[in-house]
Amino acid sequence: MLVLDGKIVSQLLKTEISQKVTEFKAKYHRTPGLGVIIVGNNPASHVYVRNKEIACKNVGMNSIKWDFPEDISEDDLVKQIKKMNELKDVDAFLVQMPLPQHINTDKILDAIDPLKDADGLHPYNLGMLWVNRQIVAPCTPWGVIRILKHYEISIAGKNCVVVGRSQIVGKPMAHLLTQADGTVTIVHSRTKNISDFTRQADIVVVAAGKKHLMGKNDFKVGSVIIDVGIHGSGLSSSDQREKSKISGDVRFDELQGWVSAATPVPGGVGPMTIACLLENTLKLAENRMKIC
Ligand code: GUN
Repeated sequence: MLVLDGKIVSQLLKTEISQKVTEFKAKYHRTPGLGVIIVGNNPASHVYVRNKEIACKNVGMNSIKWDFPEDISEDDLVKQIKKMNELKDVDAFLVQMPLPQHINTDKILDAIDPLKDADGLHPYNLGMLWVNRQIVAPCTPWGVIRILKHYEISIAGKNCVVVGRSQIVGKPMAHLLTQADGTVTIVHSRTKNISDFTRQADIVVVAAGKKHLMGKNDFKVGSVIIDVGIHGSGLSSSDQREKSKISGDVRFDELQGWVSAATPVPGGVGPMTIACLLENTLKLAENRMKIC
């Protein structure tokens, strides 16, 4: 079984981005900047945001973080987003999910300037994706496409099954696989006998959000398995013991000798998401410079 190493692929992408950032700075005499808005105290979200800030620094980009209390009102958060829309030094930004229950996520995404939408989750950008004219695509599914490309795993003509239909992963993932000429099925929590579908698939992307949901018997021999799940990541990322407890939606240990390739967790899709966020930020920064 080939282990699809997201650390290596993301590192290659980050090196490329870093070179492009240097060129950007020489051309425009300014530094691309990512903004991050985080609400509340979700420990996993704070770890992700910290990793995004570090990644920006490593490729020579600026980042700014606005941290708001759990009880910020929806209206106040929208006001802050509108402020960030206007900030000259911020080329792109994101609002870290999940948001507290009292805040309507759609309202928040709607408030983001689509031309600064680092995650590609504004309805305008999702619409552009739908018509195959995207400037940026949501980072996690785009990272999956990039990993498959790197390992020269072709999608065209393959039976692809996406497990999960979230706005952030499942739906855009299915569309990107379709764009790449895959034959795509989405299964979800209301699907009867999910494994009847996944056992037919050449490529399975599991984004169900359920720890260790699937194992070898859910997959066809020789298939390619992409695990988007991430569980137990809320503690310090520098603590190796805690790191080893991170697991995905797939029982990775069962796959050896059964499937042809799979992403591990950690070290698979996760690092790709951050690299694709940097890629989106740079694309939007370049776009902005052309418009200005
Ligand atoms: N929470 C988990 N993944 C993501 C992501 O890709 N973007 C945002 N904004 N929040 C997330």
